[in-house]
Amino acid sequence: MKSQDIRKAYLQFFESKNHLIVPSAPIVLKDDPTLMFNNSGMAQFKEFFLGNGTPKSPRIADTQKCLRVSGKHNDLEDVGFDTYHHTMFEMLGNWSFGDYFKKEALAWAWEFLTEVLKLDKDRLYVSVFEGNPTENVPFDQEAFDIWKQYVSEDRIILGNKKDNFWEMGDQGPCGPCSEIHIDLRTDAERAAVSGRSLVNADHPQVVEIWNNVFMEFNRKADGSLEKLPAQHVDTGMGFERLCMAMQGVTSNYDTDVFTPLIQKVESITGLKYTSNEIKSISEEQNKINIAIRVIVDHVRAVAFAIADGQLPSNTGAGYVIRRILRRAIRYGFTFLNQKEAFIHQLVAVLADQMGEFFPEIRAQHNLVTNVIKEEEASFLRTLEQGLQLLDKVVAETQGTEVKGEKVFELYDTFGFPKDLTALILKEKGFTYQEAEFEAELAKQKARSRAASEVTTEDWKVLIEGNVETFVGYDQTENEVKITRIRKVDSKKDGLLYQIVLDATPFYPEGGGQVGDKGTLVSANEVIEIIDTKKENNLILHFAKSLPENVNAGFVAKVNTELRTATSKNHSATHLMHLALRTILGTHVEQKGSLVNPNYLRFDFSHFAKVTDDEIRQVEDFVNARIAEQLALVEYRNLPIQEAMAKG
Ligand code: ALA
Repeated sequence: MKSQDIRKAYLQFFESKNHLIVPSAPIVLKDDPTLMFNNSGMAQFKEFFLGNGTPKSPRIADTQKCLRVSGKHNDLEDVGFDTYHHTMFEMLGNWSFGDYFKKEALAWAWEFLTEVLKLDKDRLYVSVFEGNPTENVPFDQEAFDIWKQYVSEDRIILGNKKDNFWEMGDQGPCGPCSEIHIDLRTDAERAAVSGRSLVNADHPQVVEIWNNVFMEFNRKADGSLEKLPAQHVDTGMGFERLCMAMQGVTSNYDTDVFTPLIQKVESITGLKYTSNEIKSISEEQNKINIAIRVIVDHVRAVAFAIADGQLPSNTGAGYVIRRILRRAIRYGFTFLNQKEAFIHQLVAVLADQMGEFFPEIRAQHNLVTNVIKEEEASFLRTLEQGLQLLDKVVAETQGTEVKGEKVFELYDTFGFPKDLTALILKEKGFTYQEAEFEAELAKQKARSRAASEVTTEDWKVLIEGNVETFVGYDQTENEVKITRIRKVDSKKDGLLYQIVLDATPFYPEGGGQVGDKGTLVSANEVIEIIDTKKENNLILHFAKSLPENVNAGFVAKVNTELRTATSKNHSATHLMHLALRTILGTHVEQKGSLVNPNYLRFDFSHFAKVTDDEIRQVEDFVNARIAEQLALVEYRNLPIQEAMAKG
C-alpha cells in the first residue's frame, strides 16, 4: 500500500466508527505557553480533557503534523543515526472525549491493524501498565483482560511508568497507556530470539507503532495526580513506522514517504544512499547515509513549520527551526560536500508528494523554497567566516591543542558546531580542550534556564464548570465574577496573578493585536489589569495583586483610549494587506503582524525589495480607503469556507 492510501484507510476506518475527521492543527502552537510545537495529536484537544470546553464531536480522528525537538519529547539528536526517529512525523490519532473507553479503543486498534491492514498477528505484541504504588495508580487489569481476548498472554507485556504512563509535559492531562509493538525481523531472526524480549529495548526493527492512552488524570504543579472529570481516550500511531511495516521494509527511510526526497538528494549530489536492506557498508558510506537521512528528515520539519507561519529567526520557536535547518546544512556541507545552497530544491518534491493531503505546502511552496534558500546561503557564508576565524585561532595556538573557550566562541557567535570544528581541526592535526568547551556550554545553559524559569501554581477554581465568554466586540464594560485565579512567578516578569472571568470584554493578545489593559472595579476596590492573553480556551487577565474579596461582583472596564487607538491600527493592517495585494500582486501573504496603540508592523512575503514608489502607492491606497468612511458591514461566526468565499 502506498503511504497516501494507508493514511486514507485509517481515516476512513474511524469515520466508519462515527468519528469526525478534522484537519491537522498547525505545527506551531500560538496559545499554549507550555509547548512550543505540537508534539502529539492530543495537544490541540488538551483543554477538552481538562473540561475547559467541548469538542465538536465526542469522537474525533485525524493525522497530526508533530515536531519533537524541544521540551519533554525531544528526538533531535537521534535523527539520522537511527532509522525510525524523526523531527517531524505524522501521528494518526483517534479520540474519545468522555465517550468510549478501553474496550472499544483496543478492539478497534486490533481490528484496523489485523483485519483492515492485515498485518501479521504473529508479529504484534501489546503492553499494559503494571501499576505504580507511589502514584497510587493500580495495574491495568481491564486492558489486560481485553487484550486476552485477542492475543495469547505471552504477547502481553507489563510496562512501568516510563513506558506505559503517558504525559504530555510536566503538567497537564495524562494516564496509563497500552502500546502495540511490531517485530519486523526476518523469520530466522525471530526464531533465534523472541520478539517479546526486544520490546522497548531500542531495537530498530521491533518498534512501537501505536499508543492508546487512557486519560484519567491531570498532573498538577506540585507533581500530584488529580482525577479528571471524565475518562477519555487519546491514541497516536506513528504514520511513517506504519508505512514501514506495510511496505515490507525495515527503515522508515525506505518507505515512499522518504524515497522521492532521497532520490532528489542523490541526483543533486551525485552520491548514493544505501537502503537498510544492504547490510555491509563502508564507514564512509555510513556517514553519507546519516547525512542524507538528516537532510530528508529536517527539510520536512522546516518546510512545514514555515508553511504554518513559523519563519526561522533568532528567538523562540523560530530559533529552533533555524537550528534544525542549520543541522541539515552542516551535514550536507561536511559529508555530502555541498558548498552551495541545495536543500531548498527538495521543497518541490515535498509539495508534490504531500500537497494533496496538506494543501498548505503546495500553496506556499515558493515562499518556503525562497526562505530556505536564503537561510542556506547566509549560513554557508557564516561557515566560511567561521573557517577563516578558525584558521586564525590555529595560527595563534601554541602546540596542537586549541582552547575550549575559542571553540565555544565559534559555536556561540557563529553557530559553528563543535563536531564540525573538531573535524576541521583534526584535518589540520589539532585537537581542542573538550572539558573547557563543555564547561562554557553548561554555564550558558544555566544562564538561559535561569532567565526563562517560571513557576505556575495550579488554578484555584472559584466557580466550577463555567465556560468563559468573550463580549468585547460589543462591550468595553461588563459586570463580571471571577471564576479562577492562579499565581505565576517568572524571572522575566516577576510575580503576577492570572484571573479568569465568567464573561470578559478584554481582548486577549491575538491576530497580532496586543491584549487590552483596564481595571476590575468592585464596591471598594480597584485592580489594574496590565495585560490580557489567551491560553488554550481561557482568557487570562494579568494583575500585580489580587482583590481582597475575590468573590465580590466586579465591573470589568477596558481602557477604551488604548483599545480605540489599537483597533484603528488593526483596521489599518487589513487595509495595508489589501493595498499590498492590489499593488504588488496577490502572491503577497501575511506572515505576521504587531498591532499596538502606537504603531503597527505588518510582515509579508514578496520576492523583491519594495520600491519607494510602491510604498507611496500603498500609503495613498490606504489613506484613500480611510477617507471613504465606509459603513460597517459585519459577518460574525461564518464557517471558514464561506468567509473565504466572501473574500
Ligand atoms: N498522546 C499519545 C502519544 O503521543 C498517544 O504517544
